[in-house]
Amino acid sequence: MTARILDGKTIAERVREDIAQQAKTLSAQGVQPCLAVILVGSDPASAVYVRNKVAACEKAGFRSLKFDYPADAEPAVVLAKIAELNADSSVHGILVQLPLPPQFDEDAVLEAILPTKDVDGFHAENFGMLLQGRESFYPCTPWGVMRMLQEENVKIEGAEAVIIGRSNIVGKPMAVMLLSKGATVTICHSKTKDLTAHLKRADIVVAAVGRPRFVTGAMLKPGAIVIDVGINRLPDGKLCGDVDFDSAKQVASLITPVPGGVGPMTITMLLANTLLSAQRAAAK
Ligand code: GUN
Repeated sequence: MTARILDGKTIAERVREDIAQQAKTLSAQGVQPCLAVILVGSDPASAVYVRNKVAACEKAGFRSLKFDYPADAEPAVVLAKIAELNADSSVHGILVQLPLPPQFDEDAVLEAILPTKDVDGFHAENFGMLLQGRESFYPCTPWGVMRMLQEENVKIEGAEAVIIGRSNIVGKPMAVMLLSKGATVTICHSKTKDLTAHLKRADIVVAAVGRPRFVTGAMLKPGAIVIDVGINRLPDGKLCGDVDFDSAKQVASLITPVPGGVGPMTITMLLANTLLSAQRAAAK
């Protein structure tokens, strides 16, 4: 079997066009969606992510605000900016790019953001709402994965899903989202004793471990749907995922590439959350 490629770039473009249309309609009613992005320090990868987020906002017709702070910034200064943005009704989403320098308490910063403006879906209140199956902001990467599966009409109900990675940003919320759609979910991680035994039963695999080409074709169940959330830089500068694409595509039925798979969906869902927040504000 050779897997079909799940093209995240094309899906992301389609979803973004729809978002831009809705943003236009909302702006015509006097509410232009607005995302505020805070970047602390000079981590090059974070700077690229933030630049891409701001550019995506502009392309979708959103307003964006960007606040840069040096690596030695006082946490109180950043918290004061968050308070100011919380109080500004023209701002619908607030995002603090992670990681933060060591003088910051990351949880405290994320929880300073109003849950109604937490378009990353990282606030404990939003995560709790997700766990309870209530309306909230969903974390962008796992939500993007769900959207890709939906676009491909993947049957989640009754499927065996294995997630590799237990982070708050991807693994845990991914598990909750798949569970809520009726999958039987297993979360594997670095202490899992026999990963292959779990993977051999999995109809859907989501790899989010941060280890290049960690999941090989020999570990997969034939016909599995393989979603690769990893973005790893190899010594030669090239990007690769957590899945060994060449061997996995011989065994899987559907597989996401890296780059061009899950990546483009993450920013798309950030736009979707910001639009949703603006629509909720407009409806008030
Ligand atoms: N750092 C890495 N990924 C993310 C993300 O999705 N949101 C934020 N705020 N920081 C990140």
